[in-house]
Amino acid sequence: MASTLVTGGTGFVGSALLPALVEAGHHVRATTRDVARAPKGNAVEWVRCDVNVRADLERALEGIDAAYFLVHGMGGGQHDYADKERKAARQFAEVAARAGVKRILYVGGVAPAAGPSAHLKSRLEVGEILRAGAVPTLELRASMILGTGSASWQIVRDLAMRLPAMLLPAWTASRTCPVAIEDVVVALVRGLDVPLAASAWYDIPGPEVLSGRDILLRLAALRGRRVPSLRVPFLSVSLSSWWLKLVTRTDFSLARQLVLGFTSDLLPRDARYWKEIGYEPRWTFEAAARAALEREVTERSIRGVAGKIGESMVQLISPKLPDRATAR
Ligand SMILES: NC(=O)c1ccc[n+]([C@@H]2O[C@H](COP(=O)([O-])OP(=O)(O)OC[C@H]3O[C@@H](n4cnc5c(N)ncnc54)[C@H](OP(=O)(O)O)[C@@H]3O)[C@@H](O)[C@H]2O)c1
Repeated sequence: MASTLVTGGTGFVGSALLPALVEAGHHVRATTRDVARAPKGNAVEWVRCDVNVRADLERALEGIDAAYFLVHGMGGGQHDYADKERKAARQFAEVAARAGVKRILYVGGVAPAAGPSAHLKSRLEVGEILRAGAVPTLELRASMILGTGSASWQIVRDLAMRLPAMLLPAWTASRTCPVAIEDVVVALVRGLDVPLAASAWYDIPGPEVLSGRDILLRLAALRGRRVPSLRVPFLSVSLSSWWLKLVTRTDFSLARQLVLGFTSDLLPRDARYWKEIGYEPRWTFEAAARAALEREVTERSIRGVAGKIGESMVQLISPKLPDRATAR
């Protein structure tokens, strides 16, 4: 049993990892900048921590054997986020070394075939900084992670479901290997036991190579949508990111960065990490997408029922107030 810290415990990857670590018998501490938002009652010790604040990190990393770094500062359109991310990673590596942490695990992004976008560059730099620190670091590089709550999933889902016609700019010919969150969680839990004499990075690809077009068309087909698909070679990446503003609910600056990162192939160097941990990624794109879509429908109906129960409770317990018209 290890004492583990999951930074970004409220995030998409972090929140999926927590129950798996608990189930594997580890002690789990998780961080958020707002403990009031943390889910209650799941055998996880929550601590408030901003990775930019040294004292927060010192408290969070005390007594920890293995620390997951699952934080990014991309949303909200901050122009200095790359600088902040470098500083946070440096500080994290230093404080972890002082606290006697034995291993850091980080989920980064796959290196693109051509020059990386600002976002991918920052993800790669964070990995380099952590790996250059004194604590052996395992960097696992994923391209698109499929699952409810993933920003990249939300973008493709919204593009495939909401547009009256499927716009396919030239850059959607870029290829990648999306991986399901369930497989990523296995990679992260087993990463605690991978022999690690020194820092290392591996790609964690899903089982299929798909282009952006394949992803959008398959998703639309899964939902039984028959919309015309239009190849629009003149639509630049930069222009394309503007229709995201109309289509997706995802934070726009994050969505824009993710699209800019997909202008060339995002293909793994190899899949040897899966051999290293004795596991084959099990989720095809279709199975992962179907599971995410079904989960979203279930969550929407639970929210709907919870909302209705809440309204009835309010009506039951609130005093009968005269309405404005009769109050006068
Ligand atoms: N989603 C994907 O498709 C994908 C693909 C490849 C790689 N990755 C990588 O996987 C990692 C996790 O991504 P994700 O999708 O889970 O992100 P996410 O859902 O956006 O979650 C981000 C987390 O970062 C925390 N955070 C942000 N700023 C912080 C700060 N200053 N101090 C402390 N915590 C902070 C947030 O926690 P609070 O707001 O609660 O503090 C939140 O839990 C990232 O390194 C990302 O690059 C993700």
